[in-house]
Amino acid sequence: MQRIAIFASGSGSNARKIMEHFAHSEVAQVALVVSNRRKAGVLKIADEHGIDRTVVSRSAFNDAQFLQSLAQQKIDFIVLAGFLWLIPTYLVQAFERRMVNIHPALLPQYGGAGMYGMNVHRAVKAADEKQSGITIHYVNEHYDEGQIIFQATCDLTPEDTPETIQQKVLKLEHQHFAPVIEELLMSKK
Ligand code: GRF
Repeated sequence: MQRIAIFASGSGSNARKIMEHFAHSEVAQVALVVSNRRKAGVLKIADEHGIDRTVVSRSAFNDAQFLQSLAQQKIDFIVLAGFLWLIPTYLVQAFERRMVNIHPALLPQYGGAGMYGMNVHRAVKAADEKQSGITIHYVNEHYDEGQIIFQATCDLTPEDTPETIQQKVLKLEHQHFAPVIEELLMSKK
């Protein structure tokens, strides 16, 4: 049984889907939720599922000692689900090809520093794109630049607003993120 840690900063709707997906799995379990925000909704969701959770300060997160807390929890795999801090090099190296992120657009477009949340969907709308989608990728030291693992697209119409684009994209995230993680974990067994 592989042990997943989810890192999230926000409401945690993706984290919830992943917890539900693996609740009765024989492949993996969500063992830990890490957030940088004391008030992040994802912490409540972890409590509802009886999953250990912790809040980290930026200095603790940037210190390689943090690996010890992950080791104590025997974490095999890290999922970033709306986690807004850049991942420090020590962590990228320790979890090389064992850490994935989801981005709410079709990378390599609409990624990089500052491209998160509604900023992404506003930029997609401003460019009058005919499609948007999701990208699941490995994590390296740069925002949104790790190797792409999976993409799914949705069609956009001129009537779409940044808000409706967000809804279409979030639906794809909820549909695909957990199954893609499961496939990756099964291929690593
Ligand atoms: C998602 O859109 C994800 O692509 C991005 O952050 C958002 C997290 O949403 N990285 P939620 O907290 O899972 O609802």
